[in-house]
Amino acid sequence: MGMPLIGDKFPEMTVVTTHGVMNLPKDLKGKWFILFSHPADFTPVCTTEFHAFQQLYPQFRELNTELIGMSIDQIYSHIKWIEWIDANLNTKIEFPLIADHGQVAEMLGLVHPGAGSSTVRAVFFVDPEGTIRAILYYPAELGRNFDEILRMMKGFQLADKEKVAIPANWPNNELFGSDVIVPPARTVKDAEARRGKEGCLDWWLCHRSI
Ligand code: BEZ
Repeated sequence: MGMPLIGDKFPEMTVVTTHGVMNLPKDLKGKWFILFSHPADFTPVCTTEFHAFQQLYPQFRELNTELIGMSIDQIYSHIKWIEWIDANLNTKIEFPLIADHGQVAEMLGLVHPGAGSSTVRAVFFVDPEGTIRAILYYPAELGRNFDEILRMMKGFQLADKEKVAIPANWPNNELFGSDVIVPPARTVKDAEARRGKEGCLDWWLCHRSI
């Protein structure tokens, strides 16, 4: 089996975390979750990332979304690093962190050629049915933008609920502000009905407020 892709089910796995053993995605059925990897504990960019992600954790929980970190590190290293972050940055990491021996990284395709033996900075967005909805890969030298990760989660949930699509830079799109995109017409009759309709620049480009 190759690396999972968008639309695949998240592979079933039993993992050891700082909160105990978890079975993924089974234990989180009914919730969204974001599994993100980092290259290594006690490294500067990763430390800034954990601090940033924890700041947004309450907002993710409001979105019925759990966070799970992971790297190829021992559980003792994770525990010491989390203690360090708390003691030095006054940030309690509340989400679990997987201690991987390489199996999780292998299943998710997290060690890339040319990037050494550590995991890249990956982000998997998984929906309440266990389906992978998006995957991001960043290299070690570039920390992630967690506001964008939050925006993506809000976008997925809105798109699912309203059966719409999300425009560029939403909710501050340069053309349509916070409006969303109505799916294009699929029949000639629908296309004709949309011409000249409010919110439609053409039959295939309609937006609406939410
Ligand atoms: C960092 O998190 O600072 C880092 C991790 C691995 C390689 C380079 C930088």
